[in-house]
Amino acid sequence: MEYKQEHMSKWLSTGKFNEKDEYYTPECLVKAIIPFVNPKWTVWCPFDTEDSEFVINLRENGNAVLFSHIWNGQDFFTYEPDIPYDAIISNPPFTRKLEVLKRLYELGKPFAMVLGLPILNYQEVGEFFLNKKLQLLIVDKKVSFDGNTASFNNSFFCNGILPQDLMFAHLENNNSGKNFKPSRMKGIANAEN
Ligand SMILES: C[S@@+](CC[C@H](N)C(=O)[O-])C[C@H]1O[C@@H](n2cnc3c(N)ncnc32)[C@H](O)[C@@H]1O
Repeated sequence: MEYKQEHMSKWLSTGKFNEKDEYYTPECLVKAIIPFVNPKWTVWCPFDTEDSEFVINLRENGNAVLFSHIWNGQDFFTYEPDIPYDAIISNPPFTRKLEVLKRLYELGKPFAMVLGLPILNYQEVGEFFLNKKLQLLIVDKKVSFDGNTASFNNSFFCNGILPQDLMFAHLENNNSGKNFKPSRMKGIANAEN
């Protein structure tokens, strides 16, 4: 995948690039949400490139997938696909989680976003969700994104996706050590080429 240097330079010059946002979701975690995604839906993945596990696995599920990413000049806070879509599914930049959630509720479409469960402990997050509908799909493992033991649980924060507001999903392993399978999404290093 090639990225236009102009988009990349513009993005890096905003000062909003944060290394902490460059974690790519492994397939085993993406697979937990797939059973809840109607294959007939067109799904927008707004923080993703074609090689993201969300894009790959949703396509395998039969979904039509629209993907966009800041590296292609598509800023989630201003961009929206001009093709109609049914749901928004991805893992957003962690450092901008509240802004992302705000825009998701403004867009008003069903969504599922990977976020760390510890955010539920933050006062501003509790305040944000007052009077809002929220569904949680909690996986039973602390999935590793880099092969090392993960220190917290990343699960799916949803709206309008799950048949029940609180659900749990079983994963075979936590994707660390000998079980590690990295995401196929290429990182910022490749994007700069
Ligand atoms: C946590 S990563 C997850 C990537 C991919 N969704 C996945 O799950 O593998 C979030 C991605 O969002 C990108 N990003 C940051 N700000 C963005 C914005 N305003 N609009 C679109 N993408 C953005 C980051 O560069 C990063 O690659």
